[in-house]
Amino acid sequence: MAAYVGFFEICYSNKGEHVFVSVALEAVGELVGQFAKSIGSYGVGSAGFKEKSKFRFDESFNYKEEPELAAALKTHFLEGIDIYFDNVGGAMLDAVILNMRDHNRIAVCGMISQYNKDKSEEFTIKLIKEWTIVYVEDIIDGLENAPLALIGLFKGKNVIKQVVLVARE
Ligand SMILES: NC(=O)c1ccc[n+]([C@@H]2O[C@H](COP(=O)([O-])OP(=O)(O)OC[C@H]3O[C@@H](n4cnc5c(N)ncnc54)[C@H](OP(=O)(O)O)[C@@H]3O)[C@@H](O)[C@H]2O)c1
Repeated sequence: MAAYVGFFEICYSNKGEHVFVSVALEAVGELVGQFAKSIGSYGVGSAGFKEKSKFRFDESFNYKEEPELAAALKTHFLEGIDIYFDNVGGAMLDAVILNMRDHNRIAVCGMISQYNKDKSEEFTIKLIKEWTIVYVEDIIDGLENAPLALIGLFKGKNVIKQVVLVARE
């Protein structure tokens, strides 16, 4: 149920897409790999295991042998990942986020890399802390110019957020 609901319901996958699964040789991941193949998706699985023949994916890698997870993912997903079925959390999730495509979906089924950590080691998604949020305002000066600004919205003249500057304080 975890595999089925996560893949088909949470990620609403119903066509060929680029799918990545962590903990890919265990109960859940192994099923997700097969579901992905059954609808013509390209699937890549990761595990700390060397016997690649055991993977039911198009491609696979051993995350324990990869010095740089984001780079490893990039070699398998040149155009990015549509669906990440996350069984592990932690550093792998960070690396995956760097490789996701637009309109992607992530099913957070489990975070096994985090279960035994104490509070001081708790994982937070690094990228959120490191991202610089850019917020652009297109400022038009004076209330008397508000109609122009409003009309501009419907003609696409504004650059991102249109603001009318009424007073400087
Ligand atoms: N089974 C279920 O019914 C079910 C239901 C809901 C959610 N879940 C969640 O789904 C995930 C997978 O469950 P599962 O039952 O398929 O597998 P599992 O038996 O819980 O997975 C065990 C495997 O996880 C990997 N692992 C352990 N510690 C790790 C770490 N620190 N970093 C990276 N990998 C680690 C190891 O595989 P490698 O040797 O390959 O690294 C280990 O053999 C888990 O997070 C679980 O909590 C499971």
